[in-house]
Amino acid sequence: MTEPAFPVATGEHRVFSGVQPSGALHLGNYLGALVKFVALQHQTQCLYCVVDLHAITAWQAPKTLAAQTREIAAAYFAAGVDPAEAIVFAQSAVPEHSELAWIFNCVARLGWLDRMTQFKEKSGKHKERASVGLYTYPVLQAADILLYKATHVPVGEDQKQHLELTRDIAAKFNHDFDAPGFFPLTEALIEGPGARIMSLRDGAAKMSKSDPSDQSRINLTDDADTIASKIRRAKTDPLPLPESVDDLKGRPEADNLVGIFAALSGQTKAQVLASYGGQGFGQIFKPALADLLVERLAPVSAEMRRLMADPAEIDRTLAAGAQRARALAEPILAETKRIVGFTAGR
Ligand code: TYM
Repeated sequence: MTEPAFPVATGEHRVFSGVQPSGALHLGNYLGALVKFVALQHQTQCLYCVVDLHAITAWQAPKTLAAQTREIAAAYFAAGVDPAEAIVFAQSAVPEHSELAWIFNCVARLGWLDRMTQFKEKSGKHKERASVGLYTYPVLQAADILLYKATHVPVGEDQKQHLELTRDIAAKFNHDFDAPGFFPLTEALIEGPGARIMSLRDGAAKMSKSDPSDQSRINLTDDADTIASKIRRAKTDPLPLPESVDDLKGRPEADNLVGIFAALSGQTKAQVLASYGGQGFGQIFKPALADLLVERLAPVSAEMRRLMADPAEIDRTLAAGAQRARALAEPILAETKRIVGFTAGR
């Protein structure tokens, strides 16, 4: 696998990221986030959160939310995140997230949130019926990150705008309260072919939990036959695979499948095309891609199943992670409150 471009650890870096427990994880989450989580955990201090507060911005049945919170944690561990190394926890177990989010609600401007494309996509035509939480969602995300003064956030490309907002909030807080450099201007770690995995049915749409067609995505828990059949039926165009990356332009479905192959095998798209360029999709490339997916995902889904058989153990690991997270969060929140002018704790 390609390692994310990350500056050499100096001790001054801290990584934070999160995944919502709002549905089954898919290949986009795996390549856009989890694979990077694993690579980064040995380079610097990393916090990986299951963002259950974010999940309830859209209705979640309580039992499902609890099960999915454990499932996301199991996916982190099964993908290779080591809870002895990285801090893994549920967001709601660290109340400082909500407290800092309130302060940031008073720093962020309505005009900034009005520009958030993900709110527009998720609220659809009836934005007056969306929860207030869905609207202020990116402010909570900024609080997640800045509560730990995280400097780097590994995410897929769809989170780029939220990371820009995080920087805007940090800069405005530092400016308004005359606290230069108090919050860092966090950088997103987005690069690599896994950053934007598209639907298998439509190369112009992102692979997503919310797509009504299960054929559009590879779920982490799909078995080998399902994966092979989804790849066989994945949309392509009638031309053979091109010889050069430039010739993938205007061919979004081909580009996506080559990108998935590249991300899974740790190659560049050019290297993948050096092996498969000039060939049709059906005979060799698609079966090779299905084999690669099964080889990579089958052990992850088997380990997830094993871990989920013992939910109490997952809860214990998350609780231990939450304690470590709080120890980092408390002094930063206390200092933030002092800067704002709150008197408690002085
Ligand atoms: P979420 O739960 O939608 O997605 C989790 C991670 O998966 C990435 N991702 C993708 N990457 C590549 N291709 C795709 N098709 C694809 N779909 C999803 C996402 O970019 C993300 O990295 N708002 C966040 C959760 C969050 C968070 C945070 C992230 C809350 N607080 C603080 C980072 C830092 C979200 O909804 O991700």
